[in-house]
Amino acid sequence: MASRHPHYQVLVVGGGLGGLRAAVEAHAAGRSTAVLSKVYPVRSHSGAAQGGINAALGNHPQGHDDSWERHAFDTIKGSDYLADQPRAEILARDAPERVLEMEHWGVYFSRFPDGRIAQRPFGGAGFPRTCYAADRTGHHLLHTLWEQCLKRDIPFYNEWLMTRLVTDDDRVCGVVALHIPSGELRPFSADAVIVAGGGHGRIYAKSTNAYINTGSATAAAYAAGAPLEDMEFVQFHPTTLYGTNILISEGVRGEGGYLLNVEGERFMERYAPQVMELAPRDIVARAIQTEIDAGRGFSDREGNGYVHLDVRHLGADLITTRLPGIRQIALDFAGVDPIDAPIPVQPGQHYSMGGLACDENGATPLTGLFAVGECSCISVHGANRLGGNSLLETLVFGQRAGERAAALVGDGGSARREVALAQALREETGRLEALAARRSGARQAAIRRRLHVLMTEKVGIFREAQPLSEAVAEIAELKAHYRHVMLDHRGSSFNYDLVDTLELGGMLELAEATALTALQRTECRGSHWRVDHPGRNDDAWLKHSVATYAPDGAPHVTYADVIITRYPPMARSY
Ligand code: FUM
Repeated sequence: MASRHPHYQVLVVGGGLGGLRAAVEAHAAGRSTAVLSKVYPVRSHSGAAQGGINAALGNHPQGHDDSWERHAFDTIKGSDYLADQPRAEILARDAPERVLEMEHWGVYFSRFPDGRIAQRPFGGAGFPRTCYAADRTGHHLLHTLWEQCLKRDIPFYNEWLMTRLVTDDDRVCGVVALHIPSGELRPFSADAVIVAGGGHGRIYAKSTNAYINTGSATAAAYAAGAPLEDMEFVQFHPTTLYGTNILISEGVRGEGGYLLNVEGERFMERYAPQVMELAPRDIVARAIQTEIDAGRGFSDREGNGYVHLDVRHLGADLITTRLPGIRQIALDFAGVDPIDAPIPVQPGQHYSMGGLACDENGATPLTGLFAVGECSCISVHGANRLGGNSLLETLVFGQRAGERAAALVGDGGSARREVALAQALREETGRLEALAARRSGARQAAIRRRLHVLMTEKVGIFREAQPLSEAVAEIAELKAHYRHVMLDHRGSSFNYDLVDTLELGGMLELAEATALTALQRTECRGSHWRVDHPGRNDDAWLKHSVATYAPDGAPHVTYADVIITRYPPMARSY
């Protein structure tokens, strides 16, 4: 039966790097493929990635004997042994091919004098292995992939927010989406849906994430039955600009920048004497926060702490050629020129290691549903992601998810599927009408503010049972308020009061899964630091958490084995 709605064999939800790479692959396999994105694709958060992308190219004089096996090992050790090892191996093994492919498609990588792609050191890596385009690597990758999609005439539905993932008998059959410019709700039918909606860092107040990073696509997939894995693992980037929390790339430390406390001391000596500022992020973030909490940081009048990131010794030439974006950010948002003065920095939420549970091809347990990029948990980062592995993950697993989704062709729109889509459209229309008709209740902005505060104060870098339990209880309360949320604006065109309200519902679910799994994991591992349960406990906790959505309450949490193959868990020392 012919479909009455747009139908694609592969529908990608999300226009960042993972989504675009998946779309290119599915299209190359001859499948009708479209991308639906809540923003214009080049505004996706991938474009904000600065410092680089890892690949064991061995171009740096100190890294000639680098190999994908060493990259895999560094990734697994950095993960505090929670990564599924065969998947970390895929990430490292496929990296050179994906990076060179991007170069051939036109990415403007920085170069060594002999013309080869330049590489800089990043935290937790044994070698300078991070390829970069000055400090705007994500921007260059994103624009290049966007061009590749345009060249292939892949259709884009920009400024469409997926409000619901539709299933028929446990098989994904499409989505319902809101056209933000007009307010129209429309179903899209698909044989396979690849969710590539990015992270959900905006459940925190202090985050490097764009405001769009609410996890709306993750939450829709979760509500449709796709489980979440390892949500308790939240990465706090050590160096975000004090005041705004804009990312100040690890590339700054890779180029030789160092951290100083108020006493002018390079305090990393106390925390990671061998690698200093280039320890993995979890270690550097905790070190900075410890210095601040111990009164050895700088402080403003409200008591907000920060430390200094100093690059003055690197000289104006290096700063303006390799770190031009960082210099501009420091000038524009802190009034500081790093050539002459240190940059004030503090840790801030940066990345979600947890996300939609999936296999090495991005396939989730829900037939027809794939996930890729930060919204997924393919389990290559485990408890702590290494810098430079995020851009890489989008390309490696975007390619694999696109290929696998393309292999899953359906019937092009059965009668049952049409019924499921029509039913979902009716329900979504009813939900939005009820929201618009409500004349009293809580406002979304107030709920969101409370969520930000509680996640930052109670589910932060240092965690403890009492505040975590309070967080779980308060989120349940916020969910109750949210059931009576009321709009202030009822227009149909660009109604961001409506968009924010819809997204807030998903943010509360993701925050609840984060706080609850953090409460239950009574050990320290990677980014998850329980002050009341010191030390990593492999006997009890070498396992993934898996949270399943429950419509009327807290998620159901179970645990799954970590796949250990070549690298037995050891203590981490740096
Ligand atoms: O610090 C950075 O440039 C960020 C890189 C990353 O998160 O991989």
